Amino acid sequence: MREQLEALKKEALEQAIQAESEKDVQAVRVAYLGKKGPITEVLRGMGKLTAEERPIIGALANEVRDEIKTNLDHRSEVLEKEALEKQLQSESIDVTLPGRPSSQGTIHPLSAVVTEIEDIFLGLGFSIGEGPEIETDYYNFEALNLPKDHPARDMQDSFYITDELLLRTQTSPVQARTMEKHEGIGPVKIIVPGKVFRRDDDDATHSHQFMQTEGLYVDKNVRMSDLKGILESFAKQFFGIDRSIRLRPSFFPFTEPSVEIDVSCGICSGSGCRICKQSGWIEVLGAGMIHPRVLEMSGFDSNEYSGFAFGMGVERLAMLKYDIDDIRQFYTNDARFLTQFKSV
Ligand code: PHE
Repeated sequence: MREQLEALKKEALEQAIQAESEKDVQAVRVAYLGKKGPITEVLRGMGKLTAEERPIIGALANEVRDEIKTNLDHRSEVLEKEALEKQLQSESIDVTLPGRPSSQGTIHPLSAVVTEIEDIFLGLGFSIGEGPEIETDYYNFEALNLPKDHPARDMQDSFYITDELLLRTQTSPVQARTMEKHEGIGPVKIIVPGKVFRRDDDDATHSHQFMQTEGLYVDKNVRMSDLKGILESFAKQFFGIDRSIRLRPSFFPFTEPSVEIDVSCGICSGSGCRICKQSGWIEVLGAGMIHPRVLEMSGFDSNEYSGFAFGMGVERLAMLKYDIDDIRQFYTNDARFLTQFKSV
């Protein structure tokens, strides 16, 4: 029996060492230490032994069982450690790898240009006004000296919502709204950046939605020279100190006299090139002295007060400043275009 137990022990320990997984270990455990295992079997046969032999064999059997158990436990531990090691290795993180860059948004070039325009005019003593994008026929046209049958309404094809409501075709209605609020008392000195809408077919230079910035200055003794001085200062700050402006006679129903303002071409410095169509000048905005009738309609005494107004296309200014050849770029949100303005 002693030899039998020793042989079992040897066998079991060999198998324990060969066990490659917890499942194998468990199998050896069941095979040798289980209720139906060979050791139990040996112990069962102890009845046949003498009284002297019995405790000796019993103690040996227990010893063998304990040793097998200890070995199997040890094997389990080793296997568990190995498995953990393996897992750690396969899941290891290389902290020296460079991170994945996340792309950060940029300020939209139009927003950047509006902010720049605002900064310049704030520096010239203007404050910032606003008005609704859905406008009444009255403020968009009538209060600006454009009665219903006026032919100049055709200058701006409009998106009408009802007979009396439309998407504003210009930021000029905010002139009338602001003057009304001041109840005939000056000064009024605002700029109004905002979206406007016209029924244009979109192409490289037209967009059915675009941005304007309106300017309005009403006070006693405001003269045309004030208009010229303010806009010259703006042009030099926005485009560069070497640029100059010129005024050409024009027509708007709400200003008299009216002018179109050109800035000297930044490409050829006035000598004529493809960009300025050989004229040396580029048209940038419309302006004029506020028509007395417009002042009166908005509650200002035109004998006491005078004023000027101007309106400029923001996309056009941005296109000239940053050499952009298609207005649709501002509205298609192509990241390859937008990210070029990171530093603006
Ligand atoms: N509202 C005019 C336009 O959209 C521009 C303008 C504004 C002209 C103010 C004169 C004075 O064409």
